[in-house]
Amino acid sequence: MDKFRIQGGNPLEGTIQTSGSKNAALPAIAAALLTAEPVVLRGVPQVRDIATMLRLLEDIGATVERDGSRVRIQAANVVKPEAPYELVKTMRASSLVLGPLAARAGRARVSLPGGCAIGARPIDLHLTGLEHLGATVSQEHGYVCAEAPDGLRGGAIHFDRITVTGTEDLMMAAVLARGETTLVNAAREPEVTDLAALLNRMGAQVEGAGESTIRIRGVDRLHGAEHTIITDRIEAGTFAIAAAITGGRLAITGAPVEHLDALVAKLRQAGVRVEQEGDSTLVVEGGRTLRSVDMTTEEYPGFATDLQAQYMALMTQAEGIAIVTETIFENRFMHVPELVRMGANIRLDGRRALVAGPRQLSGAAVLASDLRASASLVLGALAARGETLIDRVYHIDRGYEKIEEKLAQAGARIERVAG
Ligand code: EPZ
Repeated sequence: MDKFRIQGGNPLEGTIQTSGSKNAALPAIAAALLTAEPVVLRGVPQVRDIATMLRLLEDIGATVERDGSRVRIQAANVVKPEAPYELVKTMRASSLVLGPLAARAGRARVSLPGGCAIGARPIDLHLTGLEHLGATVSQEHGYVCAEAPDGLRGGAIHFDRITVTGTEDLMMAAVLARGETTLVNAAREPEVTDLAALLNRMGAQVEGAGESTIRIRGVDRLHGAEHTIITDRIEAGTFAIAAAITGGRLAITGAPVEHLDALVAKLRQAGVRVEQEGDSTLVVEGGRTLRSVDMTTEEYPGFATDLQAQYMALMTQAEGIAIVTETIFENRFMHVPELVRMGANIRLDGRRALVAGPRQLSGAAVLASDLRASASLVLGALAARGETLIDRVYHIDRGYEKIEEKLAQAGARIERVAG
């Protein structure tokens, strides 16, 4: 298993380019199942979760051609409308094929995801939603099966809680359903809006994406389309924090600036200088004394749970006590014991973490436990004195494209040690 060896202590300087958004590309790839014609996506990041999703589509019967960040998918036939356990267990987002397969093939069989490192994360809301669209849902042998042999029909779906992939899954199911569907209490994340834009390019009629009520008028068929995926707000946010935590100065280009308001506000309150240059460059400059600022994760447009771990690493370097509250997932603090091993002063109290700083971190051997937790360890290591060895970086490879190359280009002393 690969490791990262990081020598901390030097400020990052220079320019880092943002990649395409993993969490926008995943549903866009699933959407290609809705038509027999080719769907061409640009700006698809080269990360492991994307490779897994493309493998899943091939398994289902699609042909996939990949040339760097451009991917062409054609699902002329759906051969096997199924997401097997082997793939779902490595990536929960595989459940995004449920809606498209039920809509296109009238049948979908998807392994239940089970527990994952950041919590139980059920898909019950996807399933009750499909039932509202007329599917019959059953469960056996660890799989759920959604069947709608005569096609889905529009319906009113009210989400009990906001779910990002649930909203995406049901939006994809509804575009080919007979009649009109409304999704109430829908997720407003930019990735949902990007998916709606792709679906509309394919001939769908989706209105209101980005708001909490989405209206979808079903159509008989969709056609092929070309679409450029939005850039990754979580990756850009991670680099912004890297500049702040090392007291450096980074220009983050291609950043989806309009999707980063919540983070930028917190960084400014903490004493970090953040300026926008042009449409899509964020210049982030640390170097001044950091102040502790409390933060609570929320659905978009609130502070993203996917940046909580990285923000906590930053707060270890801030003066005072910051209370970080995680409201989206019940178990997303696995980075805490590892940051503590590096010298951080963090106390856990249920869904809250109390981070007291500043503490000089020192390099240590640590273990990456999930994607964003790994990113926070990289950030901690960049700020630490001495050498940090991060084990199990396959977690980071799931969602960050060439992170070590990008950071090294800005002066980080980071290398991948093949294991
Ligand atoms: C998406 O996961 C993202 N993944 C996650 O990013 C992100 O952390 C999360 O949204 C929240 O923003 C992708 O987009 C591929 P949810 P998702 O359904 O859709 C509960 C990363 O690091 N829930 O919005 O799976 C659930 O347990 C990843 O890139 C139900 O109870 O998250 C959680 O507590 C990790 N029943 C809450 O809702 C359901 O049927 C929000 O989850 C569905 C969800």
